[in-house]
Parts: sequence; C-alpha cells; structure tokens
Amino acid sequence: MKNTTYEVTKSNEYFKKAKEVIPGGIFGHYKYAVRDTGPKFFSRSEGAYFWDLDDNRYVDLMCGYGPSILGYNHPEVEEAFKTSSEKGNTVSLASPIMVDLATKLVEMVDIADWALFGKNGGDATSLAVMIAREYTSKKKIVKIDDGYHGVAPWMQDKSRPGIIDSDNEHVLKIKWNDIGGLEELLNMHGNDIACFISSPYDHPVSRDNSLPEEGYWKKITSLCKQYEVLTIVDDVRAGFRINLGGSNVAFDFAPDMICFGKAIANGHPLASLVGAEKLKHSAEKVYFTGTQFFSAPPMAAALATLDQLQKLNAPNKLIEYGENLNKRLVKVAEKEGFNLIASGIPSMPYYRLEGVDFETHFRWIDECVRRGVYMLGYHNHFISLAHRKEDIDFIENTAKQAFQSL
Ligand SMILES: Cc1ncc(COP(=O)(O)O)c(C=O)c1O
Repeated sequence: MKNTTYEVTKSNEYFKKAKEVIPGGIFGHYKYAVRDTGPKFFSRSEGAYFWDLDDNRYVDLMCGYGPSILGYNHPEVEEAFKTSSEKGNTVSLASPIMVDLATKLVEMVDIADWALFGKNGGDATSLAVMIAREYTSKKKIVKIDDGYHGVAPWMQDKSRPGIIDSDNEHVLKIKWNDIGGLEELLNMHGNDIACFISSPYDHPVSRDNSLPEEGYWKKITSLCKQYEVLTIVDDVRAGFRINLGGSNVAFDFAPDMICFGKAIANGHPLASLVGAEKLKHSAEKVYFTGTQFFSAPPMAAALATLDQLQKLNAPNKLIEYGENLNKRLVKVAEKEGFNLIASGIPSMPYYRLEGVDFETHFRWIDECVRRGVYMLGYHNHFISLAHRKEDIDFIENTAKQAFQSL
C-alpha cells in the first residue's frame, strides 16, 4: 500500500480521457464523489477492499453505495452467478430461478405475498407507485421532502435540468417525522392520494440521518388506512441491513409494499418489489418491464446472497460492527479535539464533524481516503460482513492520523 507516496496519476489520466467521450467524465451519483486528490476508477475488489488504477488499496466504507453487503467477490454468490451464467443469461424464456427467488422473498419478508423484479431500485419504486395508482384509482403521491427514490421524473425536483412542471405535478411533500404534515395533506387531498412512499428512516445526503420518532410509523399507517392510501416502504438502501423481514419489522409496522434493490444480490444488478395479497391483481395488470429484467444469473446471485444473509444473521452482525466502529471513531475524534456525530442506523452510519466548516469536514474525509479508507463527505456509509476487526482497527487508526493532519 502506498500511503506515504499516495498518487492517483493513472486515475487522473483516465478521467481526462473519460471527459472526451463521456459527458462530465463520470456521471450520475459517482460524479459527486470525484475529488481532485482522490481515486476515480477501480482496478479490482475483494472482500472489504478495492484497489484503484494506481494500485492504492482502500478499506471501502461505501460498499458500492450499498450493494456489497457480504463483501466483494463473495465465493458462494459468485459460484451461484457462474453456474447460472453457464446455463444462459437473458434467454427467450424466464428462468425457474425467478420463481425460487420470489418464493424465498415471500417466505422471508413479513408482508410479502408476491414479488416482481427489475434492475435498479428506481424500477421498484416506480412500479410500486404505478400499482398504488392502479389499485386506488387515485393519482397523487406523498413523499418526504428530500427523500430519494431514484431518478424517474416524478422523483426529481422541479428545478432539476430536464424536468418539466407536469412531471411531478401530483407529488406532494412532507417533512420527515411530521405526522401533522401528512394529516393536513390527507385532509385536503385524501380522496386523490394513492400512496405514501418513504424510506424506513430518513437518510438524506448532506444532512444528519434521523430515525422515526416513537409511534411515528404506527400513526402514519393508521392515517393512511383511514384515507385508503397505500404505504410503500422504500427499503432500497437500508434493506437487509436492519431486519431480513423488511426494515419495517424493526420499527413495528406493516406497509402494503416494500421496494428492495442494492444489497439484494451483493452487487449483481437486481431489484424487487414485494407486496400484500390484496395488490396482486393490480400488480398483474400494470405493464412494467425491461429486456434485461429476466437475466437469470443476478437472480441466482440474489438467492445465494439471501441464503448467506440468513445463515450469518447479517443485520445483527452489521449493526454490531457499525456500533463498534462508530464508538471508536467518536472516541478517537474526541481525543484529537473533534466532535464526530454518527447518525442513522449503525450499519449505515452518516458522519459529520460538528462545529467545523464544510471544507474542514471534507479535508478530513480526503485525508482518510488518501490513507486508504474510502469514504464520502456527504453520504451515509455502509458496513459489510467482510469488514473484520483488523479493518475496523485500520479505519480507526486512519481516522486518527487524518484528524492529526488537519
Ligand atoms: C432509498 C433509495 N431508493 C431508491 C434508490 C434508487 O435506486 P437505484 O439507484 O438502484 O435506481 C436509491 C439509490 O440510492 C435509494 O437510496
């Protein structure tokens, strides 16, 4: 590892090339992670680590923005993927693995009586909203102010390039933990609201993450029932990191549908929407598909991933790892004269340095990155089951050196 002679020359050369043929060089959410001093491209990955083009190794606290829950290149998952690939990938018929996976989700997820599949989390959220509209014959959607559900036009703010007013004219917003806000909207537009969509807890970017207040979800679901509004949990990010029965189980409520993505196949492209029996007919009627939706190997990878998550009692372990990491980072920050706030669930910690400007916070992150811990300054992080004790030790020590360098 080249901590003392850290260089990202090859990454930067490739970034220059990238700008010639890819708008912005790197696009989408990866674009915001580009830092002058940081890596831009990976060369390989294994377990809790990836290596950049310059062969710098990183203990990865982003886990590919969530998918790598078991660690990169997990043997059982990759074996299942390979075995399935040998039989065929996208073939002119569906694979029986799809049925096995749907059966697994129905067995595993408390509220699930059926499952559908897509590629990205945004497929699951868009499909959920369409099913809600079909089922209720109502058109409006209520979401949390800056809740992220993907990039379909209805999910994006009016001010964003490429979005026109009518794209989200039926989207209403409330603040997180604001039961009164929902009550007000239901009073005004209840007859017109098809669904309330929200992540199980608030995990926005660039802001502390926030758990539901006591009784929040019970009250929300009861209000929604009263107005015949469906509740959709967007578990794309937190799914399988809190409870394998659905994150809602941890917060003691039952939504009508749950969206999964990210960690479901440990990095292979797959998303799923699961729902309650009463919605099965509407789910059958709605037309939502894609050429690659039936690709079998990611489904085989998902089956293997879910088996592993169950076998390893993953959520409890991830929460324990995260609590340990948070405790140690907060303590080391304090020793070095900083106040580190860790918010959200411990298996997806959001870090913020209290009382310093944005620039100092980002400098701390940059100093961690150049020493071999991959982090972002504005996003929650992700712990995987591949993060072992020596990795947590390494992160703590790196954070300490980074504080000392400020
Ligand atoms: C809560 C949540 N919902 C939906 C999405 C969209 O998922 P995807 O990027 O796979 O379309 C994301 C992605 O970050 C997410 O965090």
